[in-house]
Formats: sequence, structure tokens, C-alpha cells
Amino acid sequence: MDIASIIKSRARETYDLHRQYVNPQLVRVLEVLGFNRNYTSAKGARLIDENGREVLDFLSGFGVFGIGRNHPLVAQVLRDMMETGSPSMVQMDVGIVSGLLAESLARIAPGDLESVFFTNSGTEGVEGALKFARQATKKTKVVYCDRAFHGLTLGALSVNGTEEFRERNEPLLPGCVPVPFNDLGALESALSDRDVAAFIVEPIQGKGVFIPDDDYLPGVRRLCDKYGALLIADEVQTGLGRTGRMFAVNHWDVVPDLLVVSKALSGGYIPVGAIITRREIYSKVFDSMDRCFAHSNTFGQNNLAMAAGLATLHVIEQDNLVERSARMGKFLINGLEELAGRYELLHEIRGKGLMIGIQFGAPESFTLKTGWKLLHKMNGDLFCQMITIPLLEKHDILTQVAGHGIDTVKILPPLIIDNADADCFLEAMDKVLKDAHKFPSSAWTTIKNLGLRTAKTA
Ligand SMILES: Cc1ncc(COP(=O)(O)O)c(C=O)c1O
Repeated sequence: MDIASIIKSRARETYDLHRQYVNPQLVRVLEVLGFNRNYTSAKGARLIDENGREVLDFLSGFGVFGIGRNHPLVAQVLRDMMETGSPSMVQMDVGIVSGLLAESLARIAPGDLESVFFTNSGTEGVEGALKFARQATKKTKVVYCDRAFHGLTLGALSVNGTEEFRERNEPLLPGCVPVPFNDLGALESALSDRDVAAFIVEPIQGKGVFIPDDDYLPGVRRLCDKYGALLIADEVQTGLGRTGRMFAVNHWDVVPDLLVVSKALSGGYIPVGAIITRREIYSKVFDSMDRCFAHSNTFGQNNLAMAAGLATLHVIEQDNLVERSARMGKFLINGLEELAGRYELLHEIRGKGLMIGIQFGAPESFTLKTGWKLLHKMNGDLFCQMITIPLLEKHDILTQVAGHGIDTVKILPPLIIDNADADCFLEAMDKVLKDAHKFPSSAWTTIKNLGLRTAKTA
């Protein structure tokens, strides 16, 4: 079977195949936005489409390509791993590669977190962490934050703070209590009955890129200790250098009880994830020989995912990508703040490292205000498309809208970007913002028509 020839000969059918057999609504959205390109190859921070156009990837597959796409070292390790012919997933054994990756994760994890459970995804890591916390504390309640995103399987969805994801799935897990993010008083009230197994939190919230005050996470740690709740840090997105530290909790010197990682761990090649916790907590779940599979999965420790994880950590450390993420993040944030000083629609830049939220808001000037109000009346999610669509269409830069109804564009570039990539993005943003500040103009009309089209075809 020659997969390269098959892909080449049938590439034109891509969107039809998805329309027919996968998710036709996604195909419609991509077509309406003009995001329906055929990408045929990728390298580092760039995607290349069928016409040879290079796109700067400031989305990085929702954060999985921290080390860039198709990293040659990870590819070589994967090929070598297959060549060894070693067994994988014997299940009635334990493997060397998973042992080595667990050792590496324990080395980089904060504090005394040293026991590892491997998963196939972020949401599975969250599910496991919730089960570990419930079993270790013998309590069932879980406190989570408004606007939190922890994945979309039913357990993780029960601690998801976005109504759009929760609706049509109720009732979810009982005993899950929301509190506002960055509010220690509300957290203390929620924990004070001492009946809570865990508080789960993203150290920096992904939907919108919200960063807590500096006293928040240390305060969270103290309150969890005071009331006997475990602290679960969901670092599925923020982990492995994304925010300019190996883990986002390192910014505040906080050691959680359970830390969940996933996304960037395999260099984007193979689904992978891990829960890293203390031996004491692990031992409360796996507390006898007949409970050695008390929580388990089939693929979690597969050799390819484990080898890709080892290679990816090697690249992150060898190429100083954590330090680079901090440095490039500062560069981009400074550049964006300079733009915010010049463009009234641009209200705030929030970010650490290369996880950056670009917040838009109502303008002061009369004519622009008319356009802003009109669009928001049609659809609360429309405005950001006026930024992301021309960024791709005119400047070949891929970005995303950060969440429902919050007028935030989010960038998650790979940690390998250089000054030229950052300049390219800032120059493109300057031009896109300049167009968006003319009203009436073709930019506003295009988005208005897009709103009308989506409303009609909904
Ligand atoms: C913070 C966080 N937790 C959990 C998840 C879920 O991960 P996955 O999509 O691998 O299930 C995500 C995904 O975006 C995430 O950002």
C-alpha cells in the first residue's frame, strides 16, 4: 500500500469525504470562513497548501506542536522505535520506554510529584485525576471555575464552565460546584464544609487566556490544605513550556497534588497524556495487588507515544524552548501592546510566554461604534472573524477565536518561532487592524454578509 500516492490521487476529495462521512457542519464552517484549504505538508512553524502557499501556524493544532510540526528528531526516534521491533502493550509486563518517560516527567515536575499515570488525551487525564482525588480523599465533591475548559468527556464536562458545551448533556456528575476564577473568597466558601475532594483549575485559563493575580494560586494552595481538598492543576495546554516556564504553576512556585499534561508531550505525533502526582495519592488508588488495574487503559503506555514523549522532552530541553517561549512571548506582547496604543478596538493583551489573548472591545468613535453594535446584535461571536479571516486570507497566518462571545483572538504559536515570524505577525496585525478601523468599509461589509449567510444557513 502506497499511502503517499493514495493521498495525492484523492486529495481533491478531502472536503467531500468529510462532508459525507465525518462532520459536515465543520466543513460548512470552514467553507464559510474561507478556511477550507488543503494543506499538503508542514514543517516547523509553517503549513504548506496544495498551491505551495506557506501559512504561518499561530494555532499549532490547539497547542500540540510546541516543538513545531514534523520535528526531524522525533520522526527519527519514531522510525528507530519501530525498527527495534520491540513489543508494545504486552499488558502483562511493564515496558522500558514508559518507565523512562515517567522518570523524565518526574524529573521536570514541580516539587515531589513523581508518580505517573499515562493517558491518551487531555480529557482522559482530567477524568483520571478526578477519580484519583475522589478515591484518595474518600470525598466526592469537586470545585471548578467559571469559564474552565478541561475536555469534553462526561466527567471533564461536569467541571467545564461553558454553557455551550454543557447544554444537552445534563444531568452531569453530581457534586460539581462552580466558583469564579481568581476569587479566593468564593473558593474558601466552597471548600469550607471540608467535603470537597478536589479543586481543579487551569493556572491560566485557555478559553480567553485569563491570568490570575499573583496571590491567587498560592492562596488556592493554602485553602486546599486548610480544608483537606486536593489541588488538580490542568496543564494540558499550559504545560511543557507554553507559558514561558516548564509548567505554568512554576510562575507562582505552587506545587499541586495532581498535575495533568497532554497536548505538546509527543511533538504532535501520537496521542499522549499523563497525570503526575505524589506516591502517597497514587498508592491510595492502587492500594493492593488486586487493585493494580483499579484505573487503567489499553493504549496509554504504547511505545510510540512514549518514545515520542522522550524525544519531545529532549528537544524542549536541548533547544532551550522554555526560555525561548518566555523571550518570544515578551516580544509579541510588547508589539501587540504598541498596536493597542494606536487602535481603539484593541483593548488588552493578556499572555505569558506564547499563550496570548488579544482582547477587543467597544470603540469610542461614533462611526466605529455603529459597526461594532451592528455586528454584536447579529452575533456575539462575529467580530473576531474580522481579524482571523484576513489574517489567513491576506497574510497567510492561522489564528483562532478564543471562546464564545468574548471578542478575544488567541495565538498559540509553536515555541520555536523566531523574531522574523513574530515581526511578520505584528506587521500583518497592523494592516488588519488598520482595515478594521475604517467604517464603513469592505472589511465590515464582508463580516456582516458572513453573519447574514450563517444566520440563513444555520
Ligand atoms: C486545559 C485543557 N484541559 C483539557 C483539555 C482536553 O484535552 P483533549 O482535547 O486532549 O481531550 C484541553 C483541550 O484543549 C485543555 O485546553
